[in-house]
Amino acid sequence: MVLNLILRLSLLIGVLASETWTQDRPGFMSSECLGSLLRITLSADYFDDKYLTFAAVDQFGTIWEIDEALASQCGYTIVYYYWGTIEFRASILSCYSHIEGDVFTVTVQIKVGTNPDMKNAATHSKTVSCLYDSWHPRELICETNYMEVSVRRKVPQIMPEMIEDEPEDWALAFPEAREGAASLWQIVFHLPAGKKALLVSDAQDAGYGLNTTDTRILLRVPYSAAEAQLVKVQGVTFSAVRSSTFYKQRWMIFMADTAVACPIDGVDYTNDTITWSVPKNVHPLSAGATGFEDVLIEVGVDLHKLSPTEIASMKYVVLNDSDVITIKIPIGAEGGYYKTHVNDGEHGTKYIINMILEHQWQDNRWGVTKHTIIKKIETPFKHVQLNLVNNTNYNIRLVNVTIGVFLPDVELVNFTTETTTVSVPEAFQYGYEIYETTYPNGTKSYIIEAAFDVPSIKKEYMTEDSRIYTLNVTLGFVIYPTSQTFTVPVIIVSVVKDAVLPSARGFCDGENLYLTVIRGNVDQNWLPFISNLYLSPEAAQKHNYGLNDNGTHFTVRVPLHAPHVLYEDIHPSGIMTSFHLIMKDDNSLAVMRDFSISCRFSAKELIDCQSNGTMTVTAIKLAGIEDLDTSLFHLRDRQCKPALVTERAATFIFNVNSCGTTRKFENTVMTYENDVLYFRPDSNMPAYKLKCICQYMINETILVQYGVKNNPAPSIEPGFGSLALIFRLFKERTYSDAYKEVDYPVAKFLKEALYFEVELLNSEDPQLELQLEDCWSTNSQDGSSHPQWAIITNGCENSEDSYQTIFHNVYHNSRIKFPKHLKRFEVKMFTFMQDTKALLEQLYFHCRVIICDARRPTSDFLCARRCIPRRERLDRSVEARMHGHVASGAVILERKM
Ligand SMILES: *[C@@H]1O[C@H](CO)[C@@H](O)[C@H](O)[C@H]1NC(C)=O
Ligand SMILES: *[C@@H]1O[C@H](CO)[C@@H](O)[C@H](O)[C@H]1NC(C)=O
Ligand SMILES: *[C@@H]1O[C@H](CO)[C@@H](O)[C@H](O)[C@H]1NC(C)=O
Ligand SMILES: *[C@@H]1O[C@H](CO)[C@@H](O)[C@H](O)[C@H]1NC(C)=O
Ligand SMILES: *[C@@H]1O[C@H](CO)[C@@H](O)[C@H](O)[C@H]1NC(C)=O
Ligand SMILES: *[C@@H]1O[C@H](CO)[C@@H](O)[C@H](O)[C@H]1NC(C)=O
Ligand SMILES: *[C@@H]1O[C@H](CO)[C@@H](O)[C@H](O)[C@H]1NC(C)=O
Ligand SMILES: *[C@@H]1O[C@H](CO)[C@@H](O)[C@H](O)[C@H]1NC(C)=O
Ligand SMILES: *[C@@H]1O[C@H](CO)[C@@H](O)[C@H](O)[C@H]1NC(C)=O
Repeated sequence: MVLNLILRLSLLIGVLASETWTQDRPGFMSSECLGSLLRITLSADYFDDKYLTFAAVDQFGTIWEIDEALASQCGYTIVYYYWGTIEFRASILSCYSHIEGDVFTVTVQIKVGTNPDMKNAATHSKTVSCLYDSWHPRELICETNYMEVSVRRKVPQIMPEMIEDEPEDWALAFPEAREGAASLWQIVFHLPAGKKALLVSDAQDAGYGLNTTDTRILLRVPYSAAEAQLVKVQGVTFSAVRSSTFYKQRWMIFMADTAVACPIDGVDYTNDTITWSVPKNVHPLSAGATGFEDVLIEVGVDLHKLSPTEIASMKYVVLNDSDVITIKIPIGAEGGYYKTHVNDGEHGTKYIINMILEHQWQDNRWGVTKHTIIKKIETPFKHVQLNLVNNTNYNIRLVNVTIGVFLPDVELVNFTTETTTVSVPEAFQYGYEIYETTYPNGTKSYIIEAAFDVPSIKKEYMTEDSRIYTLNVTLGFVIYPTSQTFTVPVIIVSVVKDAVLPSARGFCDGENLYLTVIRGNVDQNWLPFISNLYLSPEAAQKHNYGLNDNGTHFTVRVPLHAPHVLYEDIHPSGIMTSFHLIMKDDNSLAVMRDFSISCRFSAKELIDCQSNGTMTVTAIKLAGIEDLDTSLFHLRDRQCKPALVTERAATFIFNVNSCGTTRKFENTVMTYENDVLYFRPDSNMPAYKLKCICQYMINETILVQYGVKNNPAPSIEPGFGSLALIFRLFKERTYSDAYKEVDYPVAKFLKEALYFEVELLNSEDPQLELQLEDCWSTNSQDGSSHPQWAIITNGCENSEDSYQTIFHNVYHNSRIKFPKHLKRFEVKMFTFMQDTKALLEQLYFHCRVIICDARRPTSDFLCARRCIPRRERLDRSVEARMHGHVASGAVILERKM
């Protein structure tokens, strides 16, 4: 008795739990009595990621493994929550409850393993005792996996009354029950098609749970039971089973109405509110009853009933109309929670709330019925718009992006760049920093940072000074505990004015053009091209171009005469050549940059002026007129065709006396001039005109000059040749034997004849004629010294009696090819006198000569070989001739012995 009293006292506090632990871990299992239900909560800290089995232990110590079917037949429910918590719920009338008075004891054995095979699993037992002494005549529980009804055994007690209540129904059921009189128990289902009786053992085999306690008859029905009917009540679907349970007690047959009905829908959603409607006076439960009256309506969350104040503070609304109870819950309200989901690859959330509604009503048939509905409400999937906050900072060259908001059940596990997938722990190896920031409401965001220079951030050249940095990663997330995955692309594009373009410099040596490109920071993928040729190392080698790339600089060497070198123009100082290097984008092949080097090379080799009057001229095509056919180039005389033709040049070899070559004389210079021409068909204007000039001077100096004008009239200005004059003294009148250099000074007797000859050497131009303008004698090498003795003056011979100068004609012979190139004269040996004394010094003879164009003899009196009196000398032409000067070696007076 004393013991019993103590027991009762402790039960008043609510729970009496005796726990047997194989492992002592306080706090990781907790239990609660919740009316006619009890709950054991297993903490996530310990049970997360483990394999569990549950078993019920009956009062004799027999262990009954709980599977899905046994759970719904025997009144057990196991719920796994996403945060890892596990809830074990049991009806206090569950199969293996130990009932002692009003104390209901449930013993559960939980095996916890780390492997699915449960080898070496730890076993935990938990016994929970709950006091429940407020039984109502009829109690219904709508659990998530079963429907349960228990009715007081005495009610209804007297069969005939019942028959009168609903004669049709029950009168028909009765004979069936009588037929099965052999068995103790029988259950008759009222189905639309008629009645169906099952022996209790058969019903149990079909998944029904039937039992009696001292005071109550119990029926438990899984939602999947064959005899469960879907019934619409005010638009809400109920799963209902109408049944009568019969049992024999001595000579009486007792019958109980064990109808049960649970709503399976009735939840509506708007964008922000959940509306849960539960109709009252549900037909299967209210058969034969009238005078309904609400006794109590209680609403709760997670099996905990809420006071009206709590309901108001949580912003729930409970409406009790005459035929329906309506509960409105704002989505996101306290009591529920959000869970991340993936739908069609998109990530979003559902709001989940575990509601409980207890409705007690009274009617004239049952007295009070208590209907407890446990409802897990889950809103439809709602796509979540992620927020991307871009904190990219140019100053520190850092891409910084915050992405969120995520629920705590989401974890970023990896990210994929264009080339690789990187797990979060190894992100730093790739230059990424990933942080998680948690907000007070438990949600979180991820911050991803990466320096601009990280290789996986794409850098592209945009315009003059800007580059585009693109962070393009796909974040991979996983949701716990479902292991669903989803991905989120993140693209951050930043435009930064930090482009460094490649630059170039170049130089030339005598044979090559060199271009060095200094790489910038935008041209990693640019390719060098020479016109349409991609200058790969192989191509460079093939064309014999140099290519040297050390990563920061690359240098291209192209020989002067390479096909890719352009001739821009020709100028007295040389040929302007150029070579263009184009940088193209490797993708689009768009021209990004164009570099060129231009150099002037000597054009000497283009013209050769031989002393004998042969001109060799090479005309090269210039940039812009590459289409010309060099074989059609010609000189002024169209008959004069090139002697040698290449793709880019034509070479002419001709004599200055041919091909329309003109002559010009100017002081000491004689100029031959011709043009290389090209006429397009039907045009009178030359498409190409290269002026080529040879200048000859009468001395050893060779000057070289070229001249260019732009197309169509380029010109090579003079090539130079040298002409030489020689002034010789011959031994005899025959002019066959001249004194040689070693013979000087030559000794001659006074009045002995001296035979002089002046010759223009080298020239093969028959049109030239040498004329003597003035000849004189001095006694020093300096032709301007005094005294002087005139021998020829203005082409006229000195006619002073005894010392008369005599001209001799010159005729063609084996030595003399062009007689006009020579002049001969004879003078008598003399001596200068000072006072009356002869100056017995050596004599030097000088001549000023002119070279004339023989075809224009009349233009100049000297060239006309006329001796013109002094007064007429004024109108001489200066253009048609050139001047020269010759001097003889020394001649001395030989004295008679
Ligand atoms: C019926 O209830 C008793 C007492 O609670 C229990 O021992 C027994 O296991 C139950 N039988 C079934 C089949 O549920
Ligand atoms: C609910 O949300 C959808 C999409 O978010 C919107 O188109 C619709 O107008 C909203 N409805 C109401 C009643 O707010
Ligand atoms: C990146 O942005 C976050 C959010 O604004 C900020 O807290 C963090 O300091 C930034 N990181 C750096 C390196 O500036
Ligand atoms: C980002 O990367 C993906 C895959 O590498 C690619 O398909 C997409 O075009 C990229 N987007 C941008 C803007 O670069
Ligand atoms: C949680 O807090 C964050 C940051 O203040 C906010 O953006 C987010 O909307 C909040 N989430 C919920 C479910 O209240
Ligand atoms: C990266 O994460 C996503 C999402 O969690 C996953 O589907 C994918 O398999 C992961 N990739 C790699 C290579 O681990
Ligand atoms: C990110 O921020 C940078 C710097 O403010 C800005 O230039 C860039 O356009 C932004 N990118 C995106 C995708 O918003
Ligand atoms: C590459 O060559 C250039 C000269 O052509 C030189 O200035 C530079 O230092 C070299 N760079 C390296 C990395 O060798
Ligand atoms: C002029 O000289 C060159 C070589 O010096 C020779 O090839 C050419 O035939 C000569 N011309 C004439 C017309 O003698």
